[in-house]
Amino acid sequence: MAQVEGRKVLVCITGGIAAYKVVQVARSLAQMGIDVRVVMTASAERFVGAQTFAAVTGNPVATAIFGAEADAPHVELARDADLAVVAPATANALAKMALGFADDLFSAVMLTARCPVVAAPAMHAEMWEHPATAAHVRTLEARGVTMVGPDSGALSSGDFGPGRMAEPDAIVEAAVLALGRSRALAGRAVLVTAGGTQEPIDPVRFIGNRSSGRMGYAIAETAAARGAEVTLVSGPSQLTAGPGVDVVAVRTAEEMRTAVLKAAPACDIIIKAAAVADFRPQLSAPAKLKKAAGPPEVTLVPTTDILGELGADPGLRKPGGVLIGFAAETEPDPERLAELAVSKRRSKGADVIVANDVGSSDSGFDVPTNRAVIAGPHGVADVGLVTKQGLAAILIDLVAELVGGRQPPE
Ligand SMILES: Cc1cc2nc3c(=O)[nH]c(=O)nc-3n(C[C@H](O)[C@H](O)[C@H](O)COP(=O)(O)O)c2cc1C
Repeated sequence: MAQVEGRKVLVCITGGIAAYKVVQVARSLAQMGIDVRVVMTASAERFVGAQTFAAVTGNPVATAIFGAEADAPHVELARDADLAVVAPATANALAKMALGFADDLFSAVMLTARCPVVAAPAMHAEMWEHPATAAHVRTLEARGVTMVGPDSGALSSGDFGPGRMAEPDAIVEAAVLALGRSRALAGRAVLVTAGGTQEPIDPVRFIGNRSSGRMGYAIAETAAARGAEVTLVSGPSQLTAGPGVDVVAVRTAEEMRTAVLKAAPACDIIIKAAAVADFRPQLSAPAKLKKAAGPPEVTLVPTTDILGELGADPGLRKPGGVLIGFAAETEPDPERLAELAVSKRRSKGADVIVANDVGSSDSGFDVPTNRAVIAGPHGVADVGLVTKQGLAAILIDLVAELVGGRQPPE
């Protein structure tokens, strides 16, 4: 079992009839030595009194954004949490989480929290099966939320069907598992690269690509949320990295190479998600090229393949470290994508290659989703079409598994 004593878990109770069963969940977690903080919605308080949760957890229960002792209770509660458990998760709660509402303490906490989330949906079967709820659940799962249940069975309305909250023991088990995952990279140093590079033609013009940096930023944030110390070497990007991520801003492929080679020897895990230029202009004009001089002749020369360099020379990296590269391919066929991933893994000397299709409108550069195949030491997995956050979570789980056998450094 994961080490859970002293960890901080938020138990968020929303307004369903199953709220009374969550007393058992909060009690079991508290009995394990977990510091349980309960958040209740106004509807939840109509089902169970806050006093009951205060008694079983030994902590005050938070119910409102305004009027609390802390100036911003949602920020304080979210920042401290190692895990959030939402049980029962009403249809309304799932919708608010998926859409990013923040109009009460519960939803504001969920929007602020960067810790893993376990949700135990409970509702009438019609509500569960409604396409709106189904879409929200898909969104949340793609974002990395773990759903426990619902079970099928007798519902409080007297009907029978899917929508019964999972049993308290199953929720506790999922919470303990998720807590283990939340610190899976504690003590590990992770280097991530993101975004595209810009190769100057003159002081104002460059050769670039359409990479937004979303994939690398999602990986960096997920690694930080799992306890890693993260350095993100980023090409120009509109994004702002989340908490716990140290950003090194670079512009050209050569600047990226310098920053990566500097950080690499201290890093246990290197994930190269940046779209680094393969070619750069041989010369960058010192002054802006004049339109009147006509189209310039630009000679391109190859840049250094940073992933290939790291793969070929283990002396550039921390011994026993894990090296992961991304391969941008215009290849929608998963089988062909898998072949490319396997062959690139071999040729680059990487432990894992994530080949993603950058030729389709819903995958690759500048869109929130990706279609990817992962080739690693245990074989090839076709991830299909997922959000970049979802792919980051899958990748970080794999990385945690790969480094799992070794003790983190002192
Ligand atoms: C007796 C009763 C039982 C309810 N049970 C559920 C339930 O199990 N699941 C659900 O999604 N909504 C249920 N509701 C409706 C929610 O309480 C309602 O949608 C409320 O707005 C949810 O607020 P919250 O998500 O902020 O807690 C129930 C309502 C009543 C009156």
